[in-house]
Amino acid sequence: MLTPVLTIDGPTASGKGTLSRQLAKTLNFHYLDSGALYRVLALHLDRQGLNPMSAISDRDLEQFARELPVVFDDDRILLQGEDVSGLIRQERMGSLASEFAAKPAIRHGLLQRQWAFRRAPGLIADGRDMGTVVFPDAPLKVFLVADVEERARRRTKQLIEKGISVNFADLLADLRARDARDQSRAVAPLVPASDARILDGSFLSINESVQQVLHWWSASSRLA
Ligand code: C5P
Repeated sequence: MLTPVLTIDGPTASGKGTLSRQLAKTLNFHYLDSGALYRVLALHLDRQGLNPMSAISDRDLEQFARELPVVFDDDRILLQGEDVSGLIRQERMGSLASEFAAKPAIRHGLLQRQWAFRRAPGLIADGRDMGTVVFPDAPLKVFLVADVEERARRRTKQLIEKGISVNFADLLADLRARDARDQSRAVAPLVPASDARILDGSFLSINESVQQVLHWWSASSRLA
């Protein structure tokens, strides 16, 4: 029997990360932060002097993705041995990741790496296309939504707490641009899987969201 996967997809700053980590802890499952993979790859390509408009073949781009020298070590993310956990959270890396993520060669090159996270006893996979493309056989797929202004408020608060100065209007505009790009791209657009459960987290506490997902999870496990 395949190791079970619970997928959590949704737009930027919808609270997927917090919800997924909490679920992984409660169920004692592994955790895949696929957005972090896209961010690290964007940083790696940026450091090679490449940008989303660079003239580079799909073959080379896919190879960069396949061979990305990244290690996930608990909460630390190491790129060629350097801890880049803070660096990849910058808004610039999020935007760059979103632009590179529109390229099929990049998405294809990262598939194998994402599948490698599927280990017993189970996996919480967090991203945009976890339920539609990467783990279409997951017994439970959750699509988390939240009002865009509420997401911008949360993200502003998070960044300020980290000592990073932000402008709410710029951040809101950036979130809207990123949503539009993620939803309209030709490959693996941000859409709920046809069998996904939609969870509106706008006005739920993290604990309420966790309880709802755990309830769905135990119901789907009973059916399996
Ligand atoms: O989730 P996070 O904001 O860290 O992801 C950064 C960017 O990576 C997203 O805006 C999205 O374009 C891309 N991404 C993706 N598919 C995933 C995860 C992230 O396209 N599964």
